[in-house]
Amino acid sequence: MPELKKGDIIELKIEGLAYGGRGIGKYEGMVVFVPDVVPGDVVRAQVYRKKSNYAEAVSPEIIQASVLRIAPRCSLHSICGGCVWQTIPYDKQLVFKESMLTSLLEHLGNQTEVNVSPIIPSPDVWHYRNKMEFTFGRNAEGEVVLGLHSTGRFYEIIDVEQCFIHPPVFDKILKIVRQFARDYHLEPYDSRTHKGLLRHLVLRSSRTSGEVLAVLLTTEPEPEMLKALPGILRREIPELRGFIWALNTGVADVARAEKIIFSEGDNFIIEELNGLKFRVSAFSFFQTNTRASERLYQTVKELAELSGKEVLLDAYCGTGGISIFCAGQCLAVYGIEILPEAVWDARSNAQANALSNCLFLAGDVRRTLSLLKNVAKHTITRLVIDPPRGGIDKKSLRALLNLNVPVVIYVSCNPTTLARDIQAFTDSGYQLQLIQPVDMFPHTYHIESVAKLVK
Ligand SMILES: C[S@@+](CC[C@H](N)C(=O)[O-])C[C@H]1O[C@@H](n2cnc3c(N)ncnc32)[C@H](O)[C@@H]1O
Repeated sequence: MPELKKGDIIELKIEGLAYGGRGIGKYEGMVVFVPDVVPGDVVRAQVYRKKSNYAEAVSPEIIQASVLRIAPRCSLHSICGGCVWQTIPYDKQLVFKESMLTSLLEHLGNQTEVNVSPIIPSPDVWHYRNKMEFTFGRNAEGEVVLGLHSTGRFYEIIDVEQCFIHPPVFDKILKIVRQFARDYHLEPYDSRTHKGLLRHLVLRSSRTSGEVLAVLLTTEPEPEMLKALPGILRREIPELRGFIWALNTGVADVARAEKIIFSEGDNFIIEELNGLKFRVSAFSFFQTNTRASERLYQTVKELAELSGKEVLLDAYCGTGGISIFCAGQCLAVYGIEILPEAVWDARSNAQANALSNCLFLAGDVRRTLSLLKNVAKHTITRLVIDPPRGGIDKKSLRALLNLNVPVVIYVSCNPTTLARDIQAFTDSGYQLQLIQPVDMFPHTYHIESVAKLVK
């Protein structure tokens, strides 16, 4: 291995992409990770970390650009860090995701000869996100800005005037709210000093109707004049269905609402997937790429091979998307979800779609499974699991395995935790039949996939 040290400048060719978005190349036999590159690029980069079997380098200077490289659409591409793969054509992004998924399952999940089906592309490649969380900050000139975190500089907020992954109406809302904060000299929150008022603006829109829900998070329940904001927004944004002003006093930089201070209009939007109606409340989970989620849910339904007799458990069901997609072809559907608000949405969604065979329970998956045993009238024959990024915790995994369901469909937005959890299933007698990736996040390295496990 080469004698590399921090600060060394090295030249190397980028051969592939790693999960997380960085490029992989080799320098004298040693694997080197480099950000902001495209496979095929020849770069000069500075080593900033060296481990026994790999190194990490930064600030790549492109000596010879890859034939794959294209110009990014967004002018903030190099500083935003949101859609780092804009320099790679969309069809090639899909190829990289497919091979990344296969390699993660082999290396982290111990799966050999994994049957990965060709990735299903996103119907919308731009303006596909229906929800965004924006942060307030100050720029170098001291003006209030409202946008996204700068890549590698967490405390720096980039003013987003135009973004190509969210609906254009979000740009208009950002402009109005930013100007309001400047006009009334409202102080943005500083996550280093924990001082300041304005924290986040969360926007959610319906792909079907275009209506928007806005949530403003502040550290104080004042000033009163913030109550004027929805009226000002409505003058230019007729799509605004509801506005919520909520308190967030926690030190972590997460857009969490502790208490609603004020609201106007509805606290939900209505979305439609394949003709099915979904009410989505401000704080409930909903897949962020609406049209791709139709493909995701359709994939789950097809892999579950439903004939009308199946009894399906939708663990981590959110607002009931998968349950409601499948309920028409099931005898009964049970859903478990920890967020009470999402459970209310799920119940109301079943009713709105005239489905009387769904039962949604609020609670943690592991604890609620024992409750389900008491209330469920039928034996579960299909288990769908769609956990958060961290995957399934050990105790819940054990409880789910103990159900001994013959067909398990695992939906995941994180292939590293998917690989880990799949190994637990295969160690318990399941066979990984196939994995179907569905692209929900164009221009990013994120991979959504659906795995089918059978006993
Ligand atoms: C990735 S989302 C999936 C939601 C749903 N399947 C969908 O497609 O909209 C994960 C969901 O799990 C819920 N959740 C997180 N931890 C949980 C737990 N321990 N028990 C039950 N639900 C949980 C979250 O609130 C979220 O709604």
